[in-house]
Amino acid sequence: MASLGVNVDHIANIRQARLAREPDPVTAALVAELAGATGITVHLRSDRRHIQDDDVRLLRKLVKTKLNLEMAISEQMLQIACEIKPDYVTLVPERPAELTTEGGLDVAAARRRVKNAVKRLNLAGIQVSLFINPEERQVRAARDCGAQFVEIHTGIYAAAKREQEVERELERIIQAACLAQELEVGVNAGHDLNYRNVGPIAAIGCMNELNIGHSIVARAAFVGIEQAVREMVRLIREAGSSNRCD
Ligand code: PXP
Repeated sequence: MASLGVNVDHIANIRQARLAREPDPVTAALVAELAGATGITVHLRSDRRHIQDDDVRLLRKLVKTKLNLEMAISEQMLQIACEIKPDYVTLVPERPAELTTEGGLDVAAARRRVKNAVKRLNLAGIQVSLFINPEERQVRAARDCGAQFVEIHTGIYAAAKREQEVERELERIIQAACLAQELEVGVNAGHDLNYRNVGPIAAIGCMNELNIGHSIVARAAFVGIEQAVREMVRLIREAGSSNRCD
């Protein structure tokens, strides 16, 4: 059954809007763990628009489940990761003007760069996940680069409106997940998942972890982070694992 990694970037977004000390993403992470999250994710962006270096250091000390550091492939980020040693790193593309990560990393087009980054992180004892679009060539390239996990981008599935389109995108995700499993690469997924669309993704038999941020923090504004996380954990559990990889 899939587990839940909670992304607390948006708690830091509210704090940074006032350059204040609260709300604290580290406190949010600890409450999320108590509510059933099995991992905490933060994206340390090059522009430091939300999560700050000190947040990652403190999370490393206090997170009791698993700390997933999302980051771009840059010398500065690789140095920070190798120093702080999160449990795993998710490598993502990053564009300065984007509101959020816009799509998967083109691993197939940047094999050497990605492979070198994976090797360096692995040597520091950090597992690596690559955020990719649900495409066969990206899954195969991720395996060739030595990644332990892929995180399949669910943004297009989440944005799909017509039922046929939703089904088509879900099928692409299932196919990519099954191929990753066959190639012995672990499968995570995320982006734009919410309380309404998480079920079919959580039901994919080989799914390891779902990384969810915006919808949980949005719900937390009304019901608190603890309840928001508990509700998402329950939906993931209830989804079971009916979308099997065969
Ligand atoms: N996975 C990745 C790689 C991301 O970049 C993000 C956004 O930071 C998420 C998951 C979480 O997406 P959302 O906030 O839409 O749940």
